[in-house]
Amino acid sequence: MSENKYGALFTPLTVGDLTLKNRIVMAPMTRQFSPAGVPGDDVAAYYRRRAEGGAGLIVTEGTGIEDNAALDSTAIPVMYGEAALAGWKRVVDEVHAAGGRIFPQLWHQGVLRDARKSARPDVPGRRPSGLWGPVGHHSLPQDYIDSVIAPTRPMTEEEIADVVAAYARAAKNAISVGFDGIALHGGHGYLIDSFFWHETNRRTDRYGGGLKQRAEFGAELVRAIRREIGPHKPIMFRFSQHKQQDYYARLGQTPEELGVILNALADAGVDILDASIRGFDTPAFEGSDLNLAGWAKKLTGKLSSTVGGIGLNNRLEEMFAGGETKSFDNLGRVLERFGDREFDLILVGRGMLGDPAWSDRVRANAPLAPFDRSALARLT
Ligand SMILES: Cc1cc2nc3c(=O)[nH]c(=O)nc-3n(C[C@H](O)[C@H](O)[C@H](O)COP(=O)(O)O)c2cc1C
Repeated sequence: MSENKYGALFTPLTVGDLTLKNRIVMAPMTRQFSPAGVPGDDVAAYYRRRAEGGAGLIVTEGTGIEDNAALDSTAIPVMYGEAALAGWKRVVDEVHAAGGRIFPQLWHQGVLRDARKSARPDVPGRRPSGLWGPVGHHSLPQDYIDSVIAPTRPMTEEEIADVVAAYARAAKNAISVGFDGIALHGGHGYLIDSFFWHETNRRTDRYGGGLKQRAEFGAELVRAIRREIGPHKPIMFRFSQHKQQDYYARLGQTPEELGVILNALADAGVDILDASIRGFDTPAFEGSDLNLAGWAKKLTGKLSSTVGGIGLNNRLEEMFAGGETKSFDNLGRVLERFGDREFDLILVGRGMLGDPAWSDRVRANAPLAPFDRSALARLT
């Protein structure tokens, strides 16, 4: 054990065939520096710096599966095709050479894709029921909402099967270039989440109806990935209560409701539930201090991770609304919750984007570096 006051965060964790050297994870962050979907040497060097800086695990930015309606911007990387896979192999090799571990975050934007920005504006978005969802509390531009709000046709069962197969292929591709596990973006209103959410899923087939049926698409693609990558590679699954269509939306109104979805995913083969919240200190349900990661662990018995404002003075939406973002040492609160075994891993987003050596700094008991907002615009 380290003598550092945060030493508990620097204990190893074994999951499947992987042992992480500590509990600090770089959170997935879209950067859009991969022209034509191909991550280059600059992207490899960017991730290598976070591995050199001591992160126990890196989850990459969202990376597209092979479906021409998966992504909008063509500068978002993809996980298929010779050039992109060669690029990813360089990323993985650099991270491994620096002693790091790395999962790709497989992504399909689903109902949220902005077709106007994509290479295939003619291809409509994939939507479980043709619905974008109700316009709630959000930070999206009005012209975008105007362009997506009209209902479209629901996905056919054949299209669903194609997307599931594309997820499995992307996972296989990722493992073949050396990734240590697979992360899935199942939150924030994107495709997988749009099957979970009753506002965007009104299907009456086996993918819709009750909570269990709405969980089926996510569970089916986890099973497909598990078949493809075998029993030992970890699968991490990001879910959220909030949606980009509505920050106040809730996937589960009660722990029991949330448990139906999370247990379907756990039974399908997920190892780590990545509970996406904007503030790690926020209780998920009335009557308990447990945050969303705490509930995920309690409801399923699986490992869980937390995120949101760690080492910072504000939440992501406050920063996007123009709030000044500064480093802020709230690690004592993180550690208290970690010590109570509420969660097993912590994800650091903006903090690690601004400071590649975030983990080493904490390990050395050094003050956090001032937050550098300009890092959002560059691959530093
Ligand atoms: C620039 C940026 C890009 C992001 N892109 C993604 C993404 O691709 N996938 C995802 O699941 N979350 C994404 N997020 C959310 C982060 O993973 C994280 O949950 C959020 O920033 C809260 O953590 P923080 O307060 O430590 O920054 C992004 C956040 C930022 C700041």
